[in-house]
Amino acid sequence: MFATLTEDGNAVVILDQTLLPHQAVTCRLTTLAEVAHAISSMQVRGAPLIGACAAYGVALALHEAADDTALESAISTLGGTRPTAVNLHWALQRMRRLLAPLAPAERATAAWAEARAIAREDAAANAAIGGHGLALLAELAGSRKPVKLMTHCNAGWLATVAHGTALAPVYAAQRSGIAVHVWVSETRPRNQGLLTCWELAEAGVPYTLLADNAAGLLMSQGKVDIVVVGADRIAANGDTANKIGTYLKALAAREHEIPFYVAAPLSTVDFSCPTGAGIPIEERDGAELGAPGRFPVVNPAFDVTPAGLIAGIITERGICRPDRLKAWHDES
Ligand code: MRU
Repeated sequence: MFATLTEDGNAVVILDQTLLPHQAVTCRLTTLAEVAHAISSMQVRGAPLIGACAAYGVALALHEAADDTALESAISTLGGTRPTAVNLHWALQRMRRLLAPLAPAERATAAWAEARAIAREDAAANAAIGGHGLALLAELAGSRKPVKLMTHCNAGWLATVAHGTALAPVYAAQRSGIAVHVWVSETRPRNQGLLTCWELAEAGVPYTLLADNAAGLLMSQGKVDIVVVGADRIAANGDTANKIGTYLKALAAREHEIPFYVAAPLSTVDFSCPTGAGIPIEERDGAELGAPGRFPVVNPAFDVTPAGLIAGIITERGICRPDRLKAWHDES
């Protein structure tokens, strides 16, 4: 049984996602630099997972030196690895809030315990997302067998500490005996769809891979009942940044009256960001597109789906309409 992130003494062990689906190889990280590299090179990826991994990165750094300069330098190094996934920045802020007031001698132990808490909370939140999303799938299953769910990128357990976000309801449905077939979009240019295929195959969930551009055709042919994707940052108004290509799926889903859901823990909601226009979009190396170096390339890693295209956000606390997100959060 594989896991995305485990502890091993004073180290964290990750599953190297750059080698999947061809090889399942783990990698032992023992320093801040190794964690920062693992996140920026996408050995670990997926918003919730990089948040937890970054927290461990702070803990590893503080084993070396734990004064204020070392703490701030670790936070700044890790914060510079990937800009869009807010879970990373949320986890680093949480570490700073806890650690800065402590004496340096107390910080390493406290940091390790907090990183562990972040990891455990992520697993618990995603399990709860699975339960709430299951209700949606169960409703659809009344009239359609199997439920035909389309997802984009990888928002399964590989992208989290456990269970996944968009795929958590799929796994919950499998456990409940509800038949689901997953349409997995390939997700150019990094092909995270292959990661989704790998984990669905491991779990024995039926799936079919498609090129990103085939999604509209499948929707127009009535082959998709629901779209569920993950999120890297959700603005206070519900606008949602997720892997590039998500927005086009939401537009096609609207045209074909297919419900489009986002599944994410509340650590992915950035209430300090009023709308999607304020979400920083990561621009990755053009080499990822495989074009000859002399061709000009643009390679945004994420896009923003306006709240108006989203039927609901599946969180650990329940399913919320995107325009009610802030009020719903403030009420609780
Ligand atoms: O660039 P990646 O692979 O880290 O992007 C991942 C995604 O966009 C996921 O959909 C998102 O992080 C949600 S993961 C549960």
